[in-house]
Amino acid sequence: MQNLEELDALQQEGLKALEALNNSAELPHWYREYLGRKGRLTTLLRGVGNLSAEERPLAGRRGNEVKKALEDAFQTRQDSILAGELEASLDEAVDITLPGRPLTPGHLHLSTRSMRNYREIFAEMGFQVYEAPEVETDENNFTLLNIPPYHPARDMWDTFWVNDEVVLRTHTSPGQIRCMRQYHPDPIRVILPGKCYRFEQITPRSEHQFYQIEGLAVGHNIRMTDLIGTLRQFAEKMYGEGRRMRIRGSYFPFTEPSVEVDMDCILCKGQGCRVCKHTGWLEIAGAGMVHPVVLKNGGYDPAEWSGFAFGMGVERPAMLQHGIEDIRYFYGNDLRFLRQF
Ligand code: DAH
Repeated sequence: MQNLEELDALQQEGLKALEALNNSAELPHWYREYLGRKGRLTTLLRGVGNLSAEERPLAGRRGNEVKKALEDAFQTRQDSILAGELEASLDEAVDITLPGRPLTPGHLHLSTRSMRNYREIFAEMGFQVYEAPEVETDENNFTLLNIPPYHPARDMWDTFWVNDEVVLRTHTSPGQIRCMRQYHPDPIRVILPGKCYRFEQITPRSEHQFYQIEGLAVGHNIRMTDLIGTLRQFAEKMYGEGRRMRIRGSYFPFTEPSVEVDMDCILCKGQGCRVCKHTGWLEIAGAGMVHPVVLKNGGYDPAEWSGFAFGMGVERPAMLQHGIEDIRYFYGNDLRFLRQF
């Protein structure tokens, strides 16, 4: 029977051709030729229909055997070629003198770095760090700081209210009350760093979350000159020797007298530029002598005790120092920005 012989011949030829393949790229081509839908085996098997009724089952069975044999052989050959190629690729020499790919390790956020700077400088002057919560009572945030309900000074802080009695702190000053109540009747010298929140329109100049560093010293005979000396020392350590400083009278409900503290512009060194609006000065802190009412609320008798306090922003000075034009970058999580610092 011619058909059976042809099937045998096809099997022999296919197996030989398979052995002769050199690499995996040739595998699909072989498969298509022998076992594909338009391949040689299919074509032969199509002829089976023309055979006589006795011959047909024989040829059909043989056809299936050939198909199975070729498929098994293909699988085995494919496995061995792929394994060989993997082996060869591993044998390739590794050039251990090539420089490694650099890793980009993470680093601290600009705000965190600034905060640590402040902490270090004040630590050298003997200030401890006092941590107070970001979610505060109205009492601590306002009332005990001498800002009673309905007092117009409340308008100075646009507030996120959690409920009628609880707020997201609008400044770090409420920590003063907590600290005094915890430490009295001992003297105090602390900074209170932390996140604050204000119900602000977000613009390049203002965010609704930002950091502040609060300072508080309570003791006997603490004077305005102590405040000025402390801030002067801070400014020199933070921004360099020979800084000039000036104070202007101001108003805060929790200090009396209250001042605002300016430093000569770090960019133009007091000559006048766009950043300092041609005044030569930059504001660095609100400050003053702790108001007697606040001392009393903290548990200290204002007849015997006095104190100074100050509050400083963190992001604005960092913006000036690094020429950052938009405060929103601080919370934008854009790595192209963050990696620069
Ligand atoms: N808490 C004030 C604010 O956020 C800043 C401030 C001013 C803090 C004077 C003080 C101070 O401790 O004495 O606007």
